[in-house]
Amino acid sequence: MNRREFIERSCMSCLAGLSLLPLINSCTTIHYSSNYTSDKNRIILKKSEFSIVKHNKPSSLKFVVIKSDKLEFPLVVYAAGDNSYTALYMQCTHQGCELSPHDTALVCPCHGAEFDTKGIVTTGPAEHHLKAFPTTSDHENIYIQL
Ligand code: FES
Repeated sequence: MNRREFIERSCMSCLAGLSLLPLINSCTTIHYSSNYTSDKNRIILKKSEFSIVKHNKPSSLKFVVIKSDKLEFPLVVYAAGDNSYTALYMQCTHQGCELSPHDTALVCPCHGAEFDTKGIVTTGPAEHHLKAFPTTSDHENIYIQL
């Protein structure tokens, strides 16, 4: 492959990737929870928020978003599947844009940074991981320490 072919293929790959991003974004349904309570230092989220009925069949959500008046940006809570949860602050660590949550990642609409569901940077330009809040749970609730 010569230089010209390499540049052409690279550009085509980039364009293909950019054209898929809106498609990926449009496929994700974001569930904003209203079924939570909060006290001085924590948010208490019902585990039942991760269970929905879709097309008359029970289904499980991978994440739930909480907009709390205690925080400037929303929180996303990911269910790890082993009764553990990760609560992440949805503010990009690059320049502070609000992130878009998806089943397997959070994507920044401003400059394209990506984070995994544990808040680890997977794609720059962000250099720092997301703020994660400690969580505990019992049979009914998830407790997010602010
Ligand atoms: S603000 Fe998120 S990548 Fe720049």
